[in-house]
Amino acid sequence: MSVTVRVPAKVNVQLAVGAARPDGFHDLANVFLAVGLYDEVTVTEADELRVTCEGPDAAEVPLDRTNLAARAVLALAERHGRAPAVHVHIAKDIPVAGGMAGGSADGAGALVACDALWGTGASRDELLEICAGLGSDVPFSLVGGAALGTGRGERLTPLEVGGTFHWVFAVADGGLSTPAVYGEFDRLARGREIPGPVASADLLAALAKGDAHALAATLTNDLQPAALSLRPSLADTLAAGRAAGALAGLVSGSGPTTAFLVPDEETGARVAEALLASGTCRAARTAAAPAAGAAVV
Ligand code: C5P
Repeated sequence: MSVTVRVPAKVNVQLAVGAARPDGFHDLANVFLAVGLYDEVTVTEADELRVTCEGPDAAEVPLDRTNLAARAVLALAERHGRAPAVHVHIAKDIPVAGGMAGGSADGAGALVACDALWGTGASRDELLEICAGLGSDVPFSLVGGAALGTGRGERLTPLEVGGTFHWVFAVADGGLSTPAVYGEFDRLARGREIPGPVASADLLAALAKGDAHALAATLTNDLQPAALSLRPSLADTLAAGRAAGALAGLVSGSGPTTAFLVPDEETGARVAEALLASGTCRAARTAAAPAAGAAVV
């Protein structure tokens, strides 16, 4: 028996980052928006836990127990006193180490898939708690849509979205390590007073109205200077996307994927083509938002 779960990528339309906490994490006001790029996670009963991956960037995905999908299987199995005896297969379409929560998506997907395969019947709250233990972005991969994440990003409040937003994503060559980007944020912040992170009322209103122009005017990412410092060439990608007609562009999460909000699908196709032609990215993808969270297919 097998179960397949489809899980979306995310973009952060606002990522407000506070000062480093004693535990090394940063308090966030993190406005997540799920976008229609998906990984599919299939779990099948097997003799022992095994992870495989297919897709253009499959070679960059770790297949050992550092993979969040493997960790999700182990966490659910342990709680319910069963052997983690499944083959997890990931059909990967979300950029790897790209700031789009691809690894988190696989964690949430494996969790939902095993819950269904084993008939565990875990409550939504229990699943969310396991997700939060796996990583700060994993709970959002489970719920999808749009949400405000506080704490280290794992405490979610669902947000209203009043329309469809069209995006173009420029995939960079190679990934960026999230801890390295937060480390660079700390280095750049040294000696400065860092205000507590607060969600922007204007941004939440733009989301609720489904107003792309208003959202474009309010997009912010406090990790962007750190990502640009570690990968200065991203400035060229941002300039190329804006010149091609995007309403706004920003680094997605910790990067190095850059995200461009466009007014409609046609503009999106044109911006994607121009980004690719500019030679400032490895691939360009279009996607609509919001997308639903992890769901059995
Ligand atoms: O929670 P997650 O394992 O995804 O976090 C990866 C790393 O990103 C953490 O070890 C930490 O360095 C950084 N991080 C942070 N503050 C957050 C979320 C992540 O500093 N709110």
